[in-house]
Amino acid sequence: MSVTNLVIFGATGDLTRRFLVPALYRLHRAGLLEPSLRVTIYARRPMGLQAYLEGLERAMRDTGRSVDAWHEFAQRFVMYVQGGLDAESVRQLRQYIDGNAVFYLALPPGLFAEAAEYLAAAGLHHEHNGFRRLVIEKPFGQDLQTARQLQQRVSRHWHEEQVFRIDHYLGKETVQNILVFRFANLLLEALWNRNYVDFVQITAAETAGVEDRSGYYDQSGALRDMVQNHLMQLFTLTAMEPPPCLDADALRGEKVKVLQCVRPIPQNAVGAFAVRGQYTRGRAGETEMPGYLEEPGVAPRSTTETFAALKLYVDNWRWQGVPFYLRTGKRLAAERSEIAIQFKSAPVHLFRQTPLDTLAPNCFVFEMKPSESMSLVAQAKSVGLEMRARTVVLRACYREAGEEGFEAYETLLLSILQGDRTYFLRFDEVELAWEVLDPVLRAWQTGNLPMAYYPAGSEGPVEAERILDSPSHRWRPLRIDSTGASCG
Ligand code: BG6
Repeated sequence: MSVTNLVIFGATGDLTRRFLVPALYRLHRAGLLEPSLRVTIYARRPMGLQAYLEGLERAMRDTGRSVDAWHEFAQRFVMYVQGGLDAESVRQLRQYIDGNAVFYLALPPGLFAEAAEYLAAAGLHHEHNGFRRLVIEKPFGQDLQTARQLQQRVSRHWHEEQVFRIDHYLGKETVQNILVFRFANLLLEALWNRNYVDFVQITAAETAGVEDRSGYYDQSGALRDMVQNHLMQLFTLTAMEPPPCLDADALRGEKVKVLQCVRPIPQNAVGAFAVRGQYTRGRAGETEMPGYLEEPGVAPRSTTETFAALKLYVDNWRWQGVPFYLRTGKRLAAERSEIAIQFKSAPVHLFRQTPLDTLAPNCFVFEMKPSESMSLVAQAKSVGLEMRARTVVLRACYREAGEEGFEAYETLLLSILQGDRTYFLRFDEVELAWEVLDPVLRAWQTGNLPMAYYPAGSEGPVEAERILDSPSHRWRPLRIDSTGASCG
C-alpha cells in the first residue's frame, strides 16, 4: 500500500493545535485514517519531534480532550523538519516525501503563494509517484485583486484538482444538512421561491471579541473574515438550484450560478445595501467588556468593522425581488448562527371577523448555533372557545441526545485524504464572492460611509435596519429561544 504523507506547514500555530491535531486524533481513534498515513511537521521553530509531540499532548489535555490513544497516535508523526519559508529550506522535504502527499498550509495568508511556489520549485507538486494536494485556508486573498494574484501564482504550478481551499463552514454537518433537507424533501422545495418567500435572513453572531487574533482581525474585519466566505456559502447553499448530482463540480457549479445572478451593488449606493459597525465598551450581565479600540493589538483609531450587514438580490427566476439579508458580528448579545426563510403572509380572509386577521407569517429556520435544529414557525388555534391563534414551533433536533457527529475539520481532513472536493471552494466561487463584495470594500475604504457603533453585548447597531426593504422586515432577535426546548 502506498504511503500518504500529510505535511503540515505552520505546525506550531494555533490552527494546528486547536483544530487540525484534535481532528486527526479523533479520526485516528475512530479508525478512519489509513494505517499508512504519516505526518510530517514543517516549522520554523527549532524543536525536536519528541518535544513537539509533548507540547501537543499537553495542549490536548489542557483543553480537556481525551488522550487515551495518544501513544499509538503519536507513532504517525514521523518527522519534524525545521525550516523557514524559503526555497532552500523547503527543498529539504524532498528527501522525506515519497508516494502520496498532502501539503497543508496552516500559515498566515500572506505566505500561501510563496509556500505553493517553493513546494513546486522543489518538484513536490509532480504526481509521478502518487497524488499531491495543496490545502489552503481562508482568507483566499484580501480582495478581488489579491485573490486573483494569489490564484495566478498558485495555478502556475498546481492544477485546480490539486488545490483544496477550505471554508470550515462547509465541513459542518448542519451546513451539509441544508442540501439534504432542501433536496430530499418535496415539502419545502415547492415553496422555496419568490412566490412564497418574503425574505431570507442569514446570521452568524458571536459573543466573543477579537480575543488574541487582533493582529489578523484588525487587517481583515467582519466582511472579509466572515461574509466573503462563511456567509456567502450559507447564502449560495440556500439559494441554489438542485444540482444534477452530488458530484463536486455539479454542486459547485450551482453555487457559482447563484453568485453570477447576484445584482451588483452600485458603487454609489453602498449605504443602501451594507452597514458596518464596531463595538464599543459594554456589558454582558455583570461582566464589563472593552470596546474594540481598547482591545490589545488593535490600532487606536482603527476603522475595522466588527459587524457587517448586507442585502443581496438574486436576479433569477426563482428569487427575483426577494432580499437576502446577511449579518455577522463580534461581541453581540448571543451566539447564534442560522438561516431563516421568512414566508409571505397567508391570505387570511377566512378569519376576517375574528382576532386572527393579523397572523404572523411562517418562518423556517436552520439553526447551527446555539442548538443544531430545524424549525417551522407556524400558527395554530389556541385552546379555548375563541378563534385565537398562537405561534407554535415544529422543531426537529439535528442530533438526538447521545448521537455523536463529526466536527468540521474532521470531515474536511478526511475528504482531503480521500480526494473528495465537494466541500471545498473552487476558484471561480471565491472570485465571484469577492466580486459581489468589492464595491462594499472599496466604499468602506474611502471612509465616506459612517461607522455605526454598538455596545459590546448588544444586538448590534440599530443602523442595520437601514438596509431592510420594508417596515415589515425585521432583524430577528439574537436572544430568542422560540420553544424553550433545546437541542444538542
Ligand atoms: C473563522 C473566523 O473563520 O470563523 C473567526 O476567522 C470566527 O473570526 C470563526 O470566530 C467562526 O466559526 P464558528 O465555527 O465558531 O462559527
